[in-house]
Amino acid sequence: MKMNHIYLGDCIKIMEKEIPENSIDLVYADPPYNLSGKVLSLKNNNTGGPFYKMNEDWDTWDYNEYLIFSETWIRKVWNILKNNGSLYISCTYHNIAEIILTAKRTGFRLNNIITWYKTNAMPNITKRTFTHSTEFICWFIKGNKWKFNYGVIKNFNPHKTKDGKPKQLRDFIDFIEMPIVQGKERIKGENGRAIHPTQKPEKLIELILLASSDENDLVLDPFFGTGTTGVVASRLKRNWIGIEINEEYCNIAHNRIFAKEIKENA
Ligand SMILES: C[S@@+](CC[C@H](N)C(=O)[O-])C[C@H]1O[C@@H](n2cnc3c(N)ncnc32)[C@H](O)[C@@H]1O
Repeated sequence: MKMNHIYLGDCIKIMEKEIPENSIDLVYADPPYNLSGKVLSLKNNNTGGPFYKMNEDWDTWDYNEYLIFSETWIRKVWNILKNNGSLYISCTYHNIAEIILTAKRTGFRLNNIITWYKTNAMPNITKRTFTHSTEFICWFIKGNKWKFNYGVIKNFNPHKTKDGKPKQLRDFIDFIEMPIVQGKERIKGENGRAIHPTQKPEKLIELILLASSDENDLVLDPFFGTGTTGVVASRLKRNWIGIEINEEYCNIAHNRIFAKEIKENA
């Protein structure tokens, strides 16, 4: 197993072949949500900034195939995760039911569902439903001795007491407000448009890594995309492994992480 390395390929095969059992402290997974093609496509439409609604081949599944895929990768995570390890999975209303059911069938226990309220969510141009403005991060645990770094997370809380001290976690609940990635953090192609439709905010990943891992721990992201987990893990002095099936995204992630490390260490 190579640490601080991006594997190009299918995460199911790579977890099986390359990652030993009981070796990973924390898995953050942002899998395909299986929502492409099922919503009005806004590709190449400027509404809402440099984003477009999902219409990606890697995100298009037959429903039963999606269930089998979810079950297969979640089982692989179970095998490679340490007994005190955590699995965090990003999802939306499209797939949260399937993800929770599958993880529970595998043996995982659900500790929290963190709701991310996207303060700059896509406009609701259909006017046929409530505006979708949330994503969820389901936190699953394997055993009873999971890590939760209460003191560190208390400092992460942006809300402070009147004299500037960190507030108790009563004021830092399983709900977080944050915009979709934009501005300098958003990785764009030569045409100025977002290169990846679901790049996650670094701050969101920071919360997860701070909560459920320590320095020098090993963090795995099986759906690495633009490498957000690698960027944050390296900044927080965690070891990391990324797996990504798309070569272009692999290269983007590689440049993003290693260019940032060179800059920060200069
Ligand atoms: C929701 S995106 C992750 C985005 C990432 N969190 C970021 O911040 O950029 C899911 C990624 O999983 C990749 N993917 C899909 N199926 C995969 C598989 N079987 N193995 C590895 N990667 C896969 C896709 O190419 C896509 O980049």
